Amino acid sequence: MMTILGIETSCDETSAAVVDDGRHIRSNIVRTQKAHEAFMGVVPEIASRCHVESVRPAVQAALSEAGCTLSDIDGVAVANQPGLVGALLVGVHFAKGLAAAAGLPLYGINHIYAHIYAAFLAYGDIALPALAVVLSGGHTVIFRMESVHDYTLLATTRDDAIGECVDKVAKYMGLGYPGGPVVERLAREGRPDAVDFPVARIKGSDIDFSYSGLKTAVIQTVDAGGDIPRADLLASFQRAVFTPVLNSLERLLLRQAGIRSLIFSGGVTANGYLRERARERFTLPVYFPPLKLCTDNAAMIAGLADHSFRRGEPGDYHIGASPRAEWVREKTAG
Ligand code: KG4
Ligand code: ZN
Repeated sequence: MMTILGIETSCDETSAAVVDDGRHIRSNIVRTQKAHEAFMGVVPEIASRCHVESVRPAVQAALSEAGCTLSDIDGVAVANQPGLVGALLVGVHFAKGLAAAAGLPLYGINHIYAHIYAAFLAYGDIALPALAVVLSGGHTVIFRMESVHDYTLLATTRDDAIGECVDKVAKYMGLGYPGGPVVERLAREGRPDAVDFPVARIKGSDIDFSYSGLKTAVIQTVDAGGDIPRADLLASFQRAVFTPVLNSLERLLLRQAGIRSLIFSGGVTANGYLRERARERFTLPVYFPPLKLCTDNAAMIAGLADHSFRRGEPGDYHIGASPRAEWVREKTAG
């Protein structure tokens, strides 16, 4: 049995987890930083400071909940890209110190690939190749996934991330932070066809996304006053947010050979409207991890690292942290 300790500090969750064999979650401690709520968005400097305070207690709690000590751990994994670089560095340096002191290999993990791996933690084997969709506060991406080591970027946003768009609209409407859950709750009572928000057309692509125009359109509608009920406005907004994702997937399924499943992950995929529409629209198996694994967590980091460990990758004490990840983009996409 292989046991990996995972650490995740890419944004505003401090998380640590212990995972056996890339499959069995023994503990998954997630401490969400509340300090950002007053600012209606994540403040990077505050995030780093909170991680400094929470990372050691989170790791201790993960070990103790798993009923183990460092001597039971075979490797340490840490998210080192993409994310807020100051926040990532806290996890990376803590993990380096811990791994070096304990003589364990250290793996730097791509946080976005780890989000996709959450579906494998939840459901075990998933038929590949898959189209894998990660929608979060910072990312709006679709990959062709051949294996847990092989991803090709097919679609991304040209401007705002999808969750950023939802959060900014919610903030403008005074709905608090994060915006996603409250938008979904209020939209449930509304008519999705009440307002015809524009679906962005993007130069040179019918696959990529653009969310800044939608954000502006909603803000202008709010500013115009009028008598559109808030629930109708939000239901229409929610439809306009998710329709481009569903449309791009449909087009990609026609163009990409041999796709056997659809995998969704990232905080925005907690959304019930998206889940229902995706299950309605596609006949392929559609996987949505349970909510706790959709949002930022360290179990997905530890789980994915298990595969590097098994391949005999030696680990690296010299890893850095990077705000961006380098993707392999398909030449012919879009
Ligand atoms: O993956 P995540 O926890 O953090 C990162 O951004 O990495 O995603 C957070 C995002 C926020 O924008 C939040 O508003 C959105 O996920 N979100 C939702 C829902 N729950 C969270 N968006 C739409 N519907 C939801 N139910
Ligand atoms: Zn994330």
